[in-house]
Amino acid sequence: MKQKLAKLSEQCLADSKKAVTSEQINAVKIKYLGRNGAFSDLMKYLKDVPKEEKPEMGKLINDARVEAETVIGEIERDILKKEKEARLAAEKIDVTLPGKEVKTGGLHPLTIVRNQILDTFISMGFEVVEGPEIETDEFCFQKLNIPKDHPARDMQDTFYITDNIVLRTHTSPMQARVMESKDRKPPLRLVIPGKVYRSDDDATHSPMFQQIEGLVIDKKISLCDLKGTLEEFAKSVFSKETKVRFRPSYFPFTEPSVEVDVSCSICGGKGCRICKGTGWIEILGAGIVNPQVLINCGLDPKEYTGYAFGLGIERVTMIKYGIPDMRIFFENDERFIKLYK
Ligand code: DAH
Repeated sequence: MKQKLAKLSEQCLADSKKAVTSEQINAVKIKYLGRNGAFSDLMKYLKDVPKEEKPEMGKLINDARVEAETVIGEIERDILKKEKEARLAAEKIDVTLPGKEVKTGGLHPLTIVRNQILDTFISMGFEVVEGPEIETDEFCFQKLNIPKDHPARDMQDTFYITDNIVLRTHTSPMQARVMESKDRKPPLRLVIPGKVYRSDDDATHSPMFQQIEGLVIDKKISLCDLKGTLEEFAKSVFSKETKVRFRPSYFPFTEPSVEVDVSCSICGGKGCRICKGTGWIEILGAGIVNPQVLINCGLDPKEYTGYAFGLGIERVTMIKYGIPDMRIFFENDERFIKLYK
């Protein structure tokens, strides 16, 4: 029995030394140390050993098994280490290669400017609301003091769906909707962003563009309030040095009406190509809400006055960044969009 054990240990050592791959050493492990391996096998013969020799013999087998385990374990560790090194060497990762660019999305320049404008008004206490893009003739025109046969309708090349349903040509119908709404009572202080549609298409006009309408209704509102608010807006969106001027104009829904210019931020007001040498750029229309509009919307003009304004987001963005052609906003050219991230 002792001889058998010595031989087994010897054989196990020899087999272990021969193993060079992890599969080979694993096979050795199973052959000798497995549940039905050679050492377990030998234990079975213990029953033939005389009783008094059994404990000693059992201990010998066990010791030999532990030793075999240690040897196999060491060899296995060596093999695994070498295999890992070989694998790493074969992979040949070139850490100097540039990484793959992770592309992240960004906001469209029009969205960036729209948010900036809205934030400016929110900081002055305005509320943001939105309204329908498909409007009735009544809200789009009639409530705003533009009757069916009014020549001012020619200024807006309307897309008609039926005689009375139109794609809104401006965000101004929302003035009437909020004034009439039961949910709100003056004082009102609102900005209304949204898409508008006109049958127009060239470098500075697009069949779809975006406006922001402003409406303030309270007691004793004057052009001074309008000017102060618009100055704040212009300084925040263009630059701190920007000045604002009013020129008389005409809109059926405001009286008096003004066209609002800002000093050219490209040349600082000296005159350049962008401002066509005048030092000023027109950015929006505004005025004191026409008393007739208040009446049309159920408010008493003796009690309330208000101002309103409407600006084009595309136009403000073009002026802010010196973009010459409006169509580029809608081409979805990534190179353009990326400039404003
Ligand atoms: N709705 C006008 C347009 O689209 C812009 C406008 C002018 C809006 C004067 C106003 C305003 O609220 O008071 O041409």
